[in-house]
Amino acid sequence: MTSAAPIGIIGSSSPMKNLGILLSGRGSNFEAIADNVASGRLNANIAIVISNKPDAMGIESARRRGLKAMVIPSKGKAREDHDREVVNALREHAIDLVCLAGYMRLLSPWFVQQFPNRILNIHPSLLPAFPGLEAQKQAFDYGVKVSGCTVHFVDENLDHGAIIVQKTVPVLPEDDNHTLALRILEQEHMAYSEALRIVLEGNYRVEGRRVVSGTRSS
Ligand code: GRF
Repeated sequence: MTSAAPIGIIGSSSPMKNLGILLSGRGSNFEAIADNVASGRLNANIAIVISNKPDAMGIESARRRGLKAMVIPSKGKAREDHDREVVNALREHAIDLVCLAGYMRLLSPWFVQQFPNRILNIHPSLLPAFPGLEAQKQAFDYGVKVSGCTVHFVDENLDHGAIIVQKTVPVLPEDDNHTLALRILEQEHMAYSEALRIVLEGNYRVEGRRVVSGTRSS
């Protein structure tokens, strides 16, 4: 039997939660989240944006928005040593939820254990299909007729944790893997905030691998 124990019941009346965003590149998922925070559609505060890459466009965007942004370079560092620096920064900013938004680095088991069921990731395929790199190209090359994106909790295995939100897109005859990736990206921008809203409101529970939303435990 799966456990019906709720995790992460936050409650809509609790104080505003602090988000920590980790990214490595373009940062369009971060921007979509930041837009929804700025407009009040997401009841949260982006307390820190961290990149492991000094030249990440997402870091520039965070600074332009007046958000606290920092680079913690990962190059040449052992995974857990780097993770410890990142976790220290997240703790200094009292982060409640960690959002991986194009963070091109595997988290160590140690990192995952610091934030149990408090790390979200977005992946550009319908998991469990096509985990890993270049998911859109994997899906296109495989010849699927439908693809999409997945927002999930992060566990110790790659692209594996319990699924919070998925969105589908058709693969059209005239597509190449770039047009497919763009169509998926549009859905990613909606899916991440939808998942965050569910988690921030605490109106969900996890039963085994199933995240059941709209179910407030009594
Ligand atoms: C997205 O496709 C996301 O699903 C994947 O990395 C990409 C990041 O894009 N994990 P962006 O940096 O958010 O624009």
